Amino acid sequence: MPYYSDDIIEEVRSRNDIVDVIGQYVHLTKKGSSYFGLCPFHNEKTGSFSVTPSKQMYYCFGCGKGGNVFTFLQEYENMTFTEAMQELADRSGIQLPETEMTSQQKARSAKRDKLLEINKEAATYFYKMLHTDHGAIALKYFEDRKLSPETMQKFGLGYSDKYSNDLYKYLRSKGYTDDILKDSGLVTIDEVKGGYDKFWNRAMFPILDANSKVIAFGGRVLGEGEPKYLNSPETDIFDKSRNLYGLHLARRTRADKFILCEGYMDVIALHQAGFDNAVASLGTALTSGHANLIKRFGKDVYLSYDSDGAGRKAALRAIPILRAAGITCKVIDMNPYKDPDEFIKNLGAEEYQKRIDNAQNSFMYTVQMDEVDFDMSDPESKTAFYKKVASRIVEFPEEIERNNYIEAVASKYNVGFENLRQMVNNIGVRQGMGTKVNADEVEPRTKLKSGIQKKASKEEGMKTSQRLMLTWLVERPELYQMIKDYIAPEDFTEGIYAEVAKVLFEQFQESGMANPAKIVTMFSENDEQSQVAEIFNTNVSGIEDTRDWEKAIKETIVRIKENSLEQRRKNMDANDVNALNEIIKSKKMIQELSRMNFSMTFVN
Ligand code: GTP
Ligand code: MN
Repeated sequence: MPYYSDDIIEEVRSRNDIVDVIGQYVHLTKKGSSYFGLCPFHNEKTGSFSVTPSKQMYYCFGCGKGGNVFTFLQEYENMTFTEAMQELADRSGIQLPETEMTSQQKARSAKRDKLLEINKEAATYFYKMLHTDHGAIALKYFEDRKLSPETMQKFGLGYSDKYSNDLYKYLRSKGYTDDILKDSGLVTIDEVKGGYDKFWNRAMFPILDANSKVIAFGGRVLGEGEPKYLNSPETDIFDKSRNLYGLHLARRTRADKFILCEGYMDVIALHQAGFDNAVASLGTALTSGHANLIKRFGKDVYLSYDSDGAGRKAALRAIPILRAAGITCKVIDMNPYKDPDEFIKNLGAEEYQKRIDNAQNSFMYTVQMDEVDFDMSDPESKTAFYKKVASRIVEFPEEIERNNYIEAVASKYNVGFENLRQMVNNIGVRQGMGTKVNADEVEPRTKLKSGIQKKASKEEGMKTSQRLMLTWLVERPELYQMIKDYIAPEDFTEGIYAEVAKVLFEQFQESGMANPAKIVTMFSENDEQSQVAEIFNTNVSGIEDTRDWEKAIKETIVRIKENSLEQRRKNMDANDVNALNEIIKSKKMIQELSRMNFSMTFVN
């Protein structure tokens, strides 16, 4: 965590009740000791998203995302930890100490401001240059591509001159030093030759962030040439995977979907044709960062990628990423044209609107692309195709969704509904469906050879035992006194479990209470925070009777202990007598424990 003290972080966290905060974004209904709602991080129709006041944590049983209030704002609002801190401090009227901002932090923020200024200066410079004699060729280029003067102005299009250092000299004349300019992405500073421009003799497209700040540029060669486009490198203000070209305009659209395309010219042509909802991911593959950004503006997507092989591949990669973010997406068919720009130039806006109206469901599009790989006149190949489709349908977590797709595929591809459903069910059973669906999973789940799967499920079982124990400890703190003589943090052998257990045990020792939400904050990565939430939200239902509880707890202790002993024995130095004695002692203890009558009473 950057620069706030643990105490202030904990104060801010504990003063913002997680149910209140998440309740502002997600409709929650109380069920038992938790609240449930539709998960904002994946697409679902039944609520598997839980928020538990006693733990001050959230966890989705469908997609596995979870954490505390900070995690939620970071994930949902795309905030940094610092931003989440500030937001929650404001919300609860806590004044964050000034001095909490280190000089390093201040310098970083000042640098970002300066880089934004420089990019803005450059955009103005290129824009003016377009309308001078020097820029005439670029102006003609844009005119040839049928851009109106209004469009050029709206997108701030410009021209970078043929001189190799005119922008550099201009920026120097404005008082910027080499030290900051070298980080702007606009110039290169050579110790001997001085500074020279990255872009020259190119048609310039400023890239603006959602708040209309210029953060980078794309420069197109005038006519033919390599590279066709040159883009600013990533800088302190430009993160390719978190920005979409055209978003500052599209965010104001009244449409419920963005049109997602590939290129600058596609976005510009679409806006000019009246589609004010077009954005582009600019040549880079779509990332979950992009998807979250789209989600943040509450939009679904029409995919309008190029119709060539590369574009189709990119679309097939983008669809699961969008779906994982809970975004519904439809695919626009642009045939026989390559991209939206060419389509509109040739057939016009009305025809494009028709293509929008006829856009294809993204799952059916994926299946259609699959079909190309199979020879449907050959029975064996045809069966393989159905199996492939069935393995895709299995990925849908809800039965009604699966059935709808089975129906759609059955009628389109001439296969019996029941046959296909049987196939889907068989695959589902083999993959252990219904336990957990990972929404982040981009590739369809690969089928495991039975041997590997067995091993994996044994490991999975151990993980579950360890998680179960940690969840129990949090939900029933009195358990700590009973198990502490048997189980130590080191007995938790899976990934971050030992780290989590160590802090949890310390919390019990210090205060007799658990504070799981505080443990979340120790981990800086969101997926680690989700893991902590998973650890403390292991399903404990099904054990109601006190006797069942005793049995379950005892068995779990034994299982965890045996596993940890086995691990220790494996890693032990064969000559280490002390270690061996330790192991024998523990082994004995386990045997006793198995025989012992654990009598514990739980208050429900
Ligand atoms: P034109 O219509 O020919 O101007 O290009 P386009 O917008 O149709 O672009 P294309 O489909 O070729 O590529 C899509 C996007 O990928 C472009 O808008 C650029 O952002 C990016 N891109 C294309 N070519 C290059 C290249 O040579 N280098 C880099 N870095 N990016 C490129
Ligand atoms: Mn194009």
